[in-house]
This record gives sequence, structure tokens and C-alpha cells, in this order.
Amino acid sequence: MREGYEGTGPGAITPDGCAVELYSRLPVGAEPDIIAAAVPAGARVLELGSGVGRMTHALLERGFEVTAVDESAEMLERVRGARTICRPIEKLDLGETFDVVLLASFLVHAGDAEVRRGMLRTCVRHLAEGGCVLIQREGEDYHTHVPRERVDPAGFTVRILSAEPVGDGVNSVHAEYVFPDAVWTQTFRARPLTREQFEEALGEAGLRVDRYLTEDRTWVRAVPVAGG
Ligand SMILES: C[S@@+](CC[C@H](N)C(=O)[O-])C[C@H]1O[C@@H](n2cnc3c(N)ncnc32)[C@H](O)[C@@H]1O
Repeated sequence: MREGYEGTGPGAITPDGCAVELYSRLPVGAEPDIIAAAVPAGARVLELGSGVGRMTHALLERGFEVTAVDESAEMLERVRGARTICRPIEKLDLGETFDVVLLASFLVHAGDAEVRRGMLRTCVRHLAEGGCVLIQREGEDYHTHVPRERVDPAGFTVRILSAEPVGDGVNSVHAEYVFPDAVWTQTFRARPLTREQFEEALGEAGLRVDRYLTEDRTWVRAVPVAGG
């Protein structure tokens, strides 16, 4: 387990505190549609931090060719129909490129800024000519609107219980997922990034915002800086 990251509940837990069983149960939301609307049909997608394939499977169904990367072998064992690669994202160097690189699940908010830089460099390194990086970032009140809860129609409740500063602009976030028969918790480090800070982080990696894909600006299409 990484320092500052922890998970509780049934089954295997990843180094960042995610529960494999929990992610196998979570339904996929609007993400695959947002992605599909922003990239060419049938594109080759490199999905970073795929988990059990919640989004992978929906993207395969939509006709994309997906390579799924995660540092957890237990997560990747559940991915079906995609090539899987077990590696830390920040160290990935496949020697090949993709039409689309996907960095979802707020991974760009990694508590360790070096890890974030490494992840964004990985995105750029694997980008084909004319390709794009799709990034999912936190909503504006992610760290301030706490505690909060959402009751999912599928029959479980997600709570973000707290987000407490631990220094260097990083928060320790505590989340809880309550199902009728099981409860999972996750504690993780996240670095809030204003729009300016986010765009600066992209710039450091040689990327720029092409456009925000959603009104709340949580989904972003980024492209390499011309000549970068
Ligand atoms: C919150 S889960 C989301 C999984 C998937 N994207 C989804 O939406 O269902 C985050 C996943 O990213 C993986 N992960 C986190 N940090 C990573 C890193 N530095 N390198 C590789 N995988 C990482 C975890 O193992 C976990 O499976």
C-alpha cells in the first residue's frame, strides 16, 4: 500500500486503496459516451488505470480497440477482451502509440506531483500523430462540499466523508461505499487543482487543452502543444 492510501472491505485492495470487488460492482456511467463523442470511431485507445475494466468493456462494445493498463494484477484479471498490461502508469513505455490515451478516475490529481508528472509524460509518450489525451478531473467543489452522499439507483450509497489537508497542498480524502451486504472504504491523497493549475500541469508535459467536453469541465480533450 502507498503511504497515505488505505482501503477496507471484502476482497483484494490495490496499492491506492481501491477494492477489486467494489469496482466489479460499480455500474458504468456516462463516461463511455463522453469518450465516444470526442474521438474517431474505432480508435486505438490506451486506457491508464483501467481497474477491472468498468469502462474498458463499454468501450470495446462501442467498437474501440483497448489496451488496459493498471498496476494491480488482481484488477486486470477481470478485464475481458482487451490486451492488459500490469505496470505503474508513470513507468509505462510500450514503444508504440495510440490514437487516444485515457487518464480517467481523477488520476491527474495524484497527491505526489512527481507521479502526476510521470503520468502525463506517459500520456504524451504514447500519443500517435494527430491523437488526443482524454482526462477526467475533479469537479470544482470536490474537496469543499464535504461530507456529501449520493444514493445510486443500483442500490448503494457513496459518501465522501472528509477531505483534510495533510500539507503541500494535498488532502487526505476518506470515502465510503455502502451496499446492503458489504461496506468498502478508501482513504487516498488527492491534490486539488484549479483550472489554471491543471492547465499549467498539462503545459509542463507539453500538452494543452483542446476543449472541455462537459459543462462542469471535468472531462478534457488535450493535445500536444504545436511544435512541442
Ligand atoms: C479508482 S480506480 C478506477 C478504475 C477504473 N478507471 C474505473 O473507472 O472503474 C483506480 C485504478 O487505478 C489504478 N492505479 C492507481 N494509480 C496507479 C498507478 N500509478 N499506476 C497504475 N495504476 C494505478 C488502481 O490500481 C485502480 O485500479
